[in-house]
Amino acid sequence: MDERHDRDELRRQWRQLAPGWVREMREGRNAPRAGMLDGAMLEACGPVAGLQVLDSGCGEGRFARMLAAAGARRVLGLDACEAMIDAARQLACGPDEYRVADVEDLSFLPDASFDLAVSCLNQCDLPDFAANTRALFRVLRPGGRFVVANVHPMRSAVGAWQRDAGGAKQHVILDNYFDESQRRWKMLGVEITNFHRTLGTYLNAYLDAGFALCRLIEPTVTDEALKAYPENDDEQRVPNFIIFVLAKPEQGLGRRGARPAPCPSRRD
Ligand SMILES: C[S@@+](CC[C@H](N)C(=O)[O-])C[C@H]1O[C@@H](n2cnc3c(N)ncnc32)[C@H](O)[C@@H]1O
Repeated sequence: MDERHDRDELRRQWRQLAPGWVREMREGRNAPRAGMLDGAMLEACGPVAGLQVLDSGCGEGRFARMLAAAGARRVLGLDACEAMIDAARQLACGPDEYRVADVEDLSFLPDASFDLAVSCLNQCDLPDFAANTRALFRVLRPGGRFVVANVHPMRSAVGAWQRDAGGAKQHVILDNYFDESQRRWKMLGVEITNFHRTLGTYLNAYLDAGFALCRLIEPTVTDEALKAYPENDDEQRVPNFIIFVLAKPEQGLGRRGARPAPCPSRRD
């Protein structure tokens, strides 16, 4: 696949991964998510009771169900992979609904129709994450928020651990950071394509779309949290994920200079 990013090939990869992915999400331990990222994302979203929420790249619906359980009035989950959407529909719990869609093009959704948009480890899969960002900005109401979790750019550049002769982890390799291009790697035995971008590329695209940055979170684990998921001890050493909490300004189209929306209150 060349840099024109053959979208059919990307879709094929997710179709191939979907059965294993659904099984893993539902039966696996998912330690980095369940023991770290999920809690950080829910906290970053703030109170969701009564909100209209869009889950961009929802997969088999894991996080959408958590938002529904937290009281969201409606959660619309979108994913380009039919098998993911079929699986999500099977576990729909009421306010959550699911639709097959490419999240780079949300033209089927009206302007200003959501209070909160979330994207959980999906923008790193998109050839044009900036198009997704602009589309989400449009469908959010003024004052609405966009909470996006990505693979941390320090990890998406290379990501691998350097190990000693005995296999012990020494440090994570950071290299080719400024080479923004696709990376291919194996997940559950399936070759998958991701897109590495620098921290600046992500943040500047959010600002260019009109968002204000409320918080930037690099989740890690406490010693207390490690008791439940001891295999997450790596997460105290190097960042794995990054969460941007963004707000669409209250006034006008929200270009720079407009008043930012208040940032969500943090849960204790
Ligand atoms: C790493 S999974 C994350 C799924 C889910 N957000 C979660 O946290 O479990 C990435 C998802 O993005 C979806 N995806 C990839 N490209 C997409 C696109 N252009 N539009 C919509 N979904 C896409 C894949 O089908 C996959 O379900």
